[in-house]
Amino acid sequence: MTHQFPALSAAQKKDLHETALRIISPGKGILAADESVGLMAKRLAQVGVENTEEHRRQYRQILFSADDRINSCIGGVIFFHETLYQHSDTGVPFVKIIKDRGIMVGVKVDKGVIPLAGTCGETTTQGLDGLSDRCAQYKKDGAVFAKWRCVLKISDTNPSKLAIAENANVLARYSSICQQNGIVPIIEPEILPDGDEDLKRCQYVTEKVLSAVYKAMSDHHVYLEGTLLKPNMVTPGHSCSTKYTPEEVAMATITALRRTVPPAVPGVAFLSGGQSEEEASIHLNALNNCPLVKPWTLTFSYGRALQASALKTWRGHKENENAATEQFIKRAEVNSLACQGKYTGGNDSGEAGQQVYGSSHAY
Ligand code: 13P
Repeated sequence: MTHQFPALSAAQKKDLHETALRIISPGKGILAADESVGLMAKRLAQVGVENTEEHRRQYRQILFSADDRINSCIGGVIFFHETLYQHSDTGVPFVKIIKDRGIMVGVKVDKGVIPLAGTCGETTTQGLDGLSDRCAQYKKDGAVFAKWRCVLKISDTNPSKLAIAENANVLARYSSICQQNGIVPIIEPEILPDGDEDLKRCQYVTEKVLSAVYKAMSDHHVYLEGTLLKPNMVTPGHSCSTKYTPEEVAMATITALRRTVPPAVPGVAFLSGGQSEEEASIHLNALNNCPLVKPWTLTFSYGRALQASALKTWRGHKENENAATEQFIKRAEVNSLACQGKYTGGNDSGEAGQQVYGSSHAY
């Protein structure tokens, strides 16, 4: 077997590692605000707002104009391409607003899922063509980390070996390209909880998927200290009749991670995957209090679970903007506590307790 030819200098590695650590510094997680134009159409339709570029800008401004309270809760924001080049009402680039608070700027670089022919409805994720050039440009434009989402489905026969291998490989190839351009890759192999699978089945599949991902990372010489993982929590499928406690979810999730994710990975930032805002916070808190040894920082990289109440409060009305921003700040603060295992609330039966689940969710 050959040795690894040098791909990254010591200085490049140091830079990647430090950026990864800054994003997940204690009490901080990630705001995933990188919904594609198509997904924003769905989100905005839910509150009766037309999906125009201006409405998307106004909505993102509600999140980005949150005051200094979020500086200790949010370490990184994931932008969609369009948003990266948008400005506030007063003409300040969104990227500058975020960077000026010491929050890292990230960008979604994948181009969405496409069918994997010959499988039972499975997909891979496209976007490798031209990725190196796009990463270089995004870096110049202020981004220091990126996100790429792959999707796997659970059924009696899924995920197939092909889907597991293909998605692991594309995540590794993406990670390698990002690192060559000084960008920290967030590795997101999301297993959708769309079926009636129980906790055990989700844990089994999560272990198989993550172990393939880290084998591919090794094959592609990815520098693990300069990456972050964004997995699903191990939860039962949405139509599973058995209910599990947050402690059971935490034990299954940490067990799966301990079996598959090397301790060299600095942080695991979970997606919320259609859990209610409250549920996602309670689960994150339970994960951090799980009695097993956890060598990684465990935090959040939530889309829906940080934004659902803010969106519903806004409904496209100017006079609701401040109240909507307050809703976002509240979720950021709650999750900041949860990622330190210090969240003691947890009985929100209002807006935050409502499911935001939609099957076959596409980002
Ligand atoms: P949710 O937290 O809404 O699942 O989204 C996170 C994300 O970035 C999915 O790619």
